[in-house]
Amino acid sequence: MSSVPSSDREKAQVLRDRIRRYDYAYHVLDDPEVPDVVYDRSVRELQAIEAEHPELITPDSPTQRVGFEPQTEFREVEHLLPMLSLDNVFSSEELEDYDRRVKERLDRADLSVDEVEYVAEPKLDGAAVSLIYEGGVFVTGATRGDGRQGEDITHNLRTIAAVPLRLAGGREPARLEVRGEVYMPKEGFEAFNEKARERGEKTFVNPRNAAAGSLRQLDARMTALRPLDIFFYALGACEGLEMPGSQSELLALLRDMGFRTCPEAELIVGFLGCLAYYENILKYRANLPYEIDGVVYKVNSARQQEALGFVSRAPRWAIAHKFPAQEEMTVVKNVEFQVGRTGALTPVARLEPVFVGGVTVSNATLHNMDEVERKDVRLGDTVIVRRAGDVIPEVVKVLPDHRPKGARRVKLPRKCPVCGSAVERTEAEAVARCVGGLYCSAQRKEALQHFASRKAMNIDGLGAKLIDQLVDADLVRTPADLYGLALEQVAGLERMAEKSAANVLDALERSKQTTFPRFLYALGIREVGETTSQALASHFGSIAPLTAASEADLVSVPHVGPIVAGHVRNFFQEAHNQQVIADLIERGVHWPDAQAPVEKGDLPLDGKTVVLTGTLSAMTREEATARLRALGAKVTGSVSRSTDLVIAGENAGSKLKKAGELGIECWSEEQLLVLIS
Ligand code: IVH
Repeated sequence: MSSVPSSDREKAQVLRDRIRRYDYAYHVLDDPEVPDVVYDRSVRELQAIEAEHPELITPDSPTQRVGFEPQTEFREVEHLLPMLSLDNVFSSEELEDYDRRVKERLDRADLSVDEVEYVAEPKLDGAAVSLIYEGGVFVTGATRGDGRQGEDITHNLRTIAAVPLRLAGGREPARLEVRGEVYMPKEGFEAFNEKARERGEKTFVNPRNAAAGSLRQLDARMTALRPLDIFFYALGACEGLEMPGSQSELLALLRDMGFRTCPEAELIVGFLGCLAYYENILKYRANLPYEIDGVVYKVNSARQQEALGFVSRAPRWAIAHKFPAQEEMTVVKNVEFQVGRTGALTPVARLEPVFVGGVTVSNATLHNMDEVERKDVRLGDTVIVRRAGDVIPEVVKVLPDHRPKGARRVKLPRKCPVCGSAVERTEAEAVARCVGGLYCSAQRKEALQHFASRKAMNIDGLGAKLIDQLVDADLVRTPADLYGLALEQVAGLERMAEKSAANVLDALERSKQTTFPRFLYALGIREVGETTSQALASHFGSIAPLTAASEADLVSVPHVGPIVAGHVRNFFQEAHNQQVIADLIERGVHWPDAQAPVEKGDLPLDGKTVVLTGTLSAMTREEATARLRALGAKVTGSVSRSTDLVIAGENAGSKLKKAGELGIECWSEEQLLVLIS
């Protein structure tokens, strides 16, 4: 102990208090006091001190969230006070009955009121937990279990940043049991599943399972990777602290002690107040960052709560008003494939219509073939479908016990259901795609937008809106059709003046004169960007040999690996695409023949090491670098004896000076431009 300088000891204390204050502002007030980098810096500073003097580490230090040895089992913990459950109502009639019964009971207890005050809170769809603080320090956390006894998940709860390891405001009551709900925010849940899907791993069925599953990890490092959060809403045992006189005061006290509470909680009056809250939150539900499955109304006054008491395991002073179920059971009649704007084929289950999440659902997405195979969905299967908020309904899982004999498996079609082109599915990808590209009507708008874009054919004035109109009016199917448009046709479109129509036709005319790399890029072959187009153009020189190239020919081109080679080959093998290319050329699209590749030694800056400095006016530094490389130069960042040439723009400084000192040749930007031209 004495080996620790007192300055370090004080510093650690100051840092801990500061981090706790930052945590409070971030999690409880939802109003960060400092940017993330400042927070991280403080944590790292504290970590450094603790690493040097491990005896300074306290269990409630903000650095001690993970880093415990994995557990071998979950210890049973007895709750100090039992964790109750809630009774449910499913309609406004049932809710009205409930409210009437509350008033009658209060009457009988000589606590008559005109209207009951309730606190309404969202019913969070997560996992209930109970945390014990002794002397203000978090010591034990448990799952709800059977309500009397749960499992010790202290190590996992510590990893949730919004769980205070010490109470705020210097409070140190002897013992406090705090209850809340751990949940996985929707965004985190989606991202987590998306990643799992990409890796071919198991996905979570819903955010509630995700939260519960994440808490049941023996290794806290696993839990720490899950995006969990928590809202607190109740107290259990309470020693050394006065119990508040109402639920609204309780929520305020929780916040005061550093516990995050749900910002949607509201004090309301009477049955009508409950109903208004319910309707409002139901509308708002899709915008909430977390999943809820109803509303909880709690009689606000502690005195009234006491008078109302309990029935078996649920209090009479609270009730859950549930939303319509978001999951239902139904039968898969068929699976069809939809083609998206990028050509991706999405399997869609056609369902026996079922009422779920407040609407009738007859289609549900199966995402991709990997999902179909993992879930093993077959025609005629009974499945669980889920519709959460405005999210597209999805098939969650199959109930194998209900499978009819001989249920057929889902097969990926070999031809695009929209255009009949081939469907490609590379091994690395879960997604299957139509290679129809330019030809497939499902991909038409996307393909045309790309075709017209600046780095492709650069057709001024032909934007997404106009393309939508042209396709919707069926004036354009393929890029070649663009070059057959008549002035009246374009001018006849809504919100199209004669003048702007003429401008578009001019732009089309101008775009006919292009370059081979631009043309290739414009075709929109998968994963063939500008660089690859350049490489293909200079390697093959013209379209005929490229069209005929084998995959082996293609992989010998720089920037082209086996995957891209496959895309290129598939594209040119498709007869529709060949037709579109022929039509484009026939309509006048042309480019200068590629020059015979320049002999290496002929390049003007061949083998020279060049440094750019200062601000260039005619081009960006990236462009200049690309130009210089094309002239054979090696472009580096710093001036040394091995530098051959320095090109200096405006305000060139130390590099130019150094070049002068070393006697290196220096050029102005103009000199470079002369060389380029
Ligand atoms: S209060 C008497 N408040 O619902 C107190 N519970 O069906 C009982 N829940 O196990 C809990 N959101 O997991 C309460 N705002 C909220 C809640 C909530 C979700 C869950 C909790 C509980 C279950 C009871």
